[in-house]
Amino acid sequence: MSISDSRYRVAVLGATGLVGRTMIQVLEERNFPVSELVPLASSRSAGQTVRFKDREFVIAVPSSEIFRNVDIALFSAGATASREWAPVAAEAGAIVIDNSSAFRMEPGIPLVVPEVNPDAIFRVDGTPESIIANPNCSTIQMVVVLKPLHDRYRVKRVVVSTYQSVTGKGKAGRDALESELAGQVQDQFTHFHQIAFNAVPQIDVFTDNGYTKEEMKMVNETRKIMGDDAMAVSPTTVRIPVYGGHGESLNIEFENDFDIDEVRALLASSPGIILQDDPSARIYPMPLTSYERDEVFAGRIRRDFWNPKTLNMWIVADNLRKGAATNAVQIAEVIAARCSAGA
Ligand SMILES: NC(=O)c1ccc[n+]([C@@H]2O[C@H](COP(=O)([O-])OP(=O)(O)OC[C@H]3O[C@@H](n4cnc5c(N)ncnc54)[C@H](OP(=O)(O)O)[C@@H]3O)[C@@H](O)[C@H]2O)c1
Repeated sequence: MSISDSRYRVAVLGATGLVGRTMIQVLEERNFPVSELVPLASSRSAGQTVRFKDREFVIAVPSSEIFRNVDIALFSAGATASREWAPVAAEAGAIVIDNSSAFRMEPGIPLVVPEVNPDAIFRVDGTPESIIANPNCSTIQMVVVLKPLHDRYRVKRVVVSTYQSVTGKGKAGRDALESELAGQVQDQFTHFHQIAFNAVPQIDVFTDNGYTKEEMKMVNETRKIMGDDAMAVSPTTVRIPVYGGHGESLNIEFENDFDIDEVRALLASSPGIILQDDPSARIYPMPLTSYERDEVFAGRIRRDFWNPKTLNMWIVADNLRKGAATNAVQIAEVIAARCSAGA
């Protein structure tokens, strides 16, 4: 990609998926400078079209030829497709922003949340890395609120319990809830158990240590993004039958003492956070609050009863937006801004 480009040929791999569709919507809403949209998906969808800025674009399957004419490739088609196509796209000259788990923990591949570590996108010579990883949705919303608090009080340990939307498992996850609510009998449960009227304390498969892969993503990705291997994260991830966003109950222990009003002011003035914290008026974030919004919403802020250096908080964000599509487009925006500044 030439650093003097001011408009970009942007591919979206996974263009028919929940995240891919949202990426296309977010590119349009934020008026990202797209000269050509290249929607890609599997052979099941090839030939279908997607709409972007009042034009129809035909969906193709990925190939090395296609990536030769792409500047920025937003990947959202799962880890297997990313492992196959990200090196091909990077080799062809595209910058890949990958939303899957394929490369997140690979040394040398930046794992980026623009509110936290935007500089990680770039090499020492100022050019962007060719593959940049987008973190897991539950991790992204948590680190957005941890960052300003860590800078001020130093976070030692976070106990987090998640309440995650069915859309976190893509089209299949959303369809499973809808068909269960419609009374259709399932051959196999997409969420391991019935999700309608239920809560399932398992997201992804269990690892040998008794934690799920989703939980281990929160442990490992948080440390990498925050650049602090000492930060302890103790997670329990739970799927619940909602749309709109993931909720997280956070219990955050700091090294230093804090003032509750200062915490509120800090969060309210930090990028990407909206404070909704007036319990007497029943104001606090909920999944529907965050639906189709790009920010992380924070509320229910109170000091822990038993440990004065510990804070309780409730946060919510739209997992398809800040948890995936918006974060990826924001990374592309940082690259575009740096490129046009250097042009
Ligand atoms: N949902 C979330 O909240 C969320 C949050 C963060 C990260 N992610 C990650 O984002 C990725 C996509 O998630 P999603 O929720 O959008 O899933 P989804 O709704 O199931 O969509 C999957 C997309 O990938 C495409 N695809 C699948 N296999 C492919 C292949 N071999 N070659 C090309 N395209 C292929 C599908 O195309 P067809 O329609 O043609 O099958 C579809 O466009 C996953 O890696 C997921 O872990 C999701």
